[in-house]
Amino acid sequence: MAVVSQQMKNLGRVVGVCGVLAFSPPAASAEFDRGQALYENHCKSCHEDWAHTREGRRVVSMSALRQRVAGWSLHSRLDWGDEEIDDVTDYLNRRFYQLTGQP
Ligand code: HEC
Repeated sequence: MAVVSQQMKNLGRVVGVCGVLAFSPPAASAEFDRGQALYENHCKSCHEDWAHTREGRRVVSMSALRQRVAGWSLHSRLDWGDEEIDDVTDYLNRRFYQLTGQP
């Protein structure tokens, strides 16, 4: 957070000097977790934690996790590209799986 507030101060100075008002701070995009947002919008209707924390959950590697995410994107007709699939895979891994290795 220290870095962000420093950025905000710098930004304040820049805005003050230039008088540019319509400016969106870079911090906003850094704090937005696209994988989380996609998951919450499109996947939570069916499951939340239970699918990823249940006994005998199926996913045991990053590639399996990515395949599942890609599969659910197809199943739900979301037509996600690589970036969306990567972001959601990354989010689920950070939050539930803590797997290492390449997706
Ligand atoms: C129609 C309901 C439904 C939707 C929508 C859905 N899921 Fe699932 N998902 C399930 C069910 C039921 C299971 C558990 C059975 C299984 O493993 O197939 C599951 C299992 C999973 C697993 C495997 C968990 C594990 O470790 O065993 C992953 C990963 C997953 N879903 C990701 C997603 C993602 C990402 C989305 C959104 C794109 C999504 N799901 C949308 C119903 C759904």
